[in-house]
Amino acid sequence: MRRRVRARWFKREREEAERVKDRDLFKTVEEVFDSLTIDHVYRLYRKGVIWELKGVISSGKEARVYWAKSRDGEDLAVKIYLSATAEFRKSIKKYIVGDPRFEDIPSGNFRRLIYEWARKEYRNLKRMWEAGVRVPRPIAYQANIIVMEFLGENGYRAPLLAEVGDELGPDYLSSLFEDLVAQMELVVCKAGLIHADLSEYNIMVWKDKPWIIDVSQAVTHDHPYALEFLERDVVNVYRYFSERIDLGVSREELLGKLRSCLRV
Ligand SMILES: Nc1ncnc2c1ncn2[C@@H]1O[C@H](COP(=O)(O)OP(=O)(O)OP(=O)(O)O)[C@@H](O)[C@H]1O
Ligand SMILES: [Mg+2]
Repeated sequence: MRRRVRARWFKREREEAERVKDRDLFKTVEEVFDSLTIDHVYRLYRKGVIWELKGVISSGKEARVYWAKSRDGEDLAVKIYLSATAEFRKSIKKYIVGDPRFEDIPSGNFRRLIYEWARKEYRNLKRMWEAGVRVPRPIAYQANIIVMEFLGENGYRAPLLAEVGDELGPDYLSSLFEDLVAQMELVVCKAGLIHADLSEYNIMVWKDKPWIIDVSQAVTHDHPYALEFLERDVVNVYRYFSERIDLGVSREELLGKLRSCLRV
């Protein structure tokens, strides 16, 4: 990222963190954890994965992402699924149809549903990482908790594409797009997956490159909606960049290239 844009981003983040005092962050950490989650965090601590849980990076409806430290002082991102609202259960249905891991979960067993969902995210992350996709390095999985590489510095996360895209020049955006297309090819053609929620909100810009995050809903090629999900990902990415720069490739060409890798 341009040095100026980057400096401005981290300054904003610092100011925000100062506004939300440490005490509040700690309170949040304490309040939202049920005893089982505390137990699982503790297990990760005993395994030597997490040394210190620092503060909240993001609190979505279902999951929170925390900044943590490993025993060696490495920054970690810890994503913890905390609840399964009715809306969430409804929204994930489409991604788990025909998936045997989910079929035998009794309908009221929300905890198992969350564990399975978190495990699916970890496995997807691992599969992408092993295929060479630029995703946060997967580090550990435990029940409703995923531990991965932290993207950012000094506890401040890197920006999402949606947050900085408009401050980046056309050349920079062009190179992000080109790189992103290569990442999408790796996801589809090498990892054999479709992200299924790809957009400027699930792409972080870090070290001048696009990083793909939030892979819980990714599906394999044999999923009944695989093609529909792939098309949606392409539409999202294409829309974002084509509104800002000249791409020199049509949406159909891009989709065609990726679709040719679908194995079913
Ligand atoms: N490895 C990471 N390093 C730094 N920040 C991260 C990392 N993973 C996620 N984040 C931050 O946490 C936010 C939420 O993560 P993610 O998108 O995986 O969860 P989510 O459940 O989809 O939340 P949301 O509904 O807000 O998208 C991201 O938008 C990003 O700002
Ligand atoms: Mg997300």
